[in-house]
Amino acid sequence: MNLDLKNRKIILGVTGSIAAYKAPELARLLIKSGADVQAVITEAACNFVTPLTLETLTGHKVVYKMFNSTTDPLEHINLAKNADLLLIAPASADFIARAAAGRASDLLSAITLAYAGTVAFAPAMNTNMLNNRATQKNIKILTDEYGWNIIEPASGELACGITDKGRMESPETIVQSVTNFFNRDLEGHKIVITAGPTVEDIDPVRFISNRSSGKTGYAIARNAALRGARVVLISGPTALIPPENITVINVRSALEMRQAVLEESDDAHLVVMSAAVADFRHETIETKKIKKETQNDSLEIKLVKNPDILLEIGEKYKKSKSPVIFGFALETDNLLTNGKAKLEKKLADMIIANSAKDALEKETTKVIFIHKDGRVNETDEIPKQSLAKLILDEYLSINPLSV
Ligand code: C5P
Repeated sequence: MNLDLKNRKIILGVTGSIAAYKAPELARLLIKSGADVQAVITEAACNFVTPLTLETLTGHKVVYKMFNSTTDPLEHINLAKNADLLLIAPASADFIARAAAGRASDLLSAITLAYAGTVAFAPAMNTNMLNNRATQKNIKILTDEYGWNIIEPASGELACGITDKGRMESPETIVQSVTNFFNRDLEGHKIVITAGPTVEDIDPVRFISNRSSGKTGYAIARNAALRGARVVLISGPTALIPPENITVINVRSALEMRQAVLEESDDAHLVVMSAAVADFRHETIETKKIKKETQNDSLEIKLVKNPDILLEIGEKYKKSKSPVIFGFALETDNLLTNGKAKLEKKLADMIIANSAKDALEKETTKVIFIHKDGRVNETDEIPKQSLAKLILDEYLSINPLSV
C-alpha cells in the first residue's frame, strides 16, 4: 500500500458546495495514504454531508460550530497549530471570498486565518460563479498574494445541468496534489533565482526599465520552497509578494543584481536567471533632476552596456559541475535559433526560450526548453506555476545526486 502521507496531519475543511458529498471519499483516500485527517465543516456544508459520516471515517470528532460551550474556546488556534496542511475541499465561492478577505466569521475561516502553513483549495462551483471577476480576483489574491495553492477545478457535468469548468477535481487527483505538496525532493539544494526587471536610474526621478512582471521567477521560488529547497530570490522591483520561508534580496539595478548573484552562487546547486536584466544603463546617474528648461528640443543621454551576469557566471563555473545554470531567452522572432545561440554563447546548461507576446505580463506562457545535450522540448501554453514545476523537474533530472 502506498503510504505517501504517513505521519501527515491534514485538516480537511468542507464548505457548502454540492461537491461536499465527495468529501467522505476524499477523507477515506487521504487516510488510506497514511494521513491523519481532522475534518472541519461549515454549517452550510452540513446540508450536503453529515458530521457523523466524516467522524466515522476519520475517527475524530468533527467540529463546525464556532461558539459551543462544550468545545475548547481556542479550538481554531489549536487545530491550526498542529496541522501539516489545511485542505479546503470543496471550496465554495463564498468560502474563497471569506478567505481572501481574511474573515473569521465561522470556525473554518477562523482556522484558515490562524493557520501559518500551506493551504490548498479545491474550488467547486457553477462556471459563471467561477468565471465571475470577483471570484477570479479572490483566487488571485489567495495564490499571488498569500502564496496558497489552488487545485484547479475540472471540466465536466455540473449540478446545474451544464457541462463546463467548475467541478471539484476528483478525490484521487486531489490526493495526488496533496502528495506533491509534501514531496520535498529539493531538500538540501540551494537554488538562486533572479526575477523581475532591473531599474536603471537616469536621475533621482527618471529611470529605464522593462515590462517584466517577475511572475515566472516568483513562481519558481514558490515551487522550489514548497519542495524543500533553500531559496534565495534576487528580485528587481515588482508588485509581487514573495513566498514564505525564503531569503529575498531586493535589488534595483543590474549592477546590484550582479553583485548579489556573485555573492550567492558559489555554494548554489542551481542558478535560474529569469530576471529581465536591462542591457544598458545611464553612464552616470545625475544627482539632480535634469530640468527641461536646461535642454533644447531633444535630450541626449549616453547609455553604456551592463555586464551580462549569465555569461559571467557561465564562464566562472564552466569547469565545475555546480551550480547548474538556467537562463531565459525572451524573443520577438526566431525563438529556437536565438535560444540555441544564447545557450552556446552564455555557457548555460539550459535556455528556456519564450516569445514576448506569449509571456510578458501574462499568467501563462509557452516555452521551448533548449538543453546543452541537444534536446529540445516545447510546452503547450501553461500557467507560470506549472512552468516553474517543469523547470525544477528538469533540474532534478540533470542533477539528482548533487546533494
Ligand atoms: O542576452 P539576453 O538579455 O537575451 O539574455 C537573457 C538571459 O540572460 C536571461 O537569463 C537574463 O536573466 C540574462 N541576462 C543577464 N545579464 C544581462 C542580460 C541578460 O544575466 N545583462
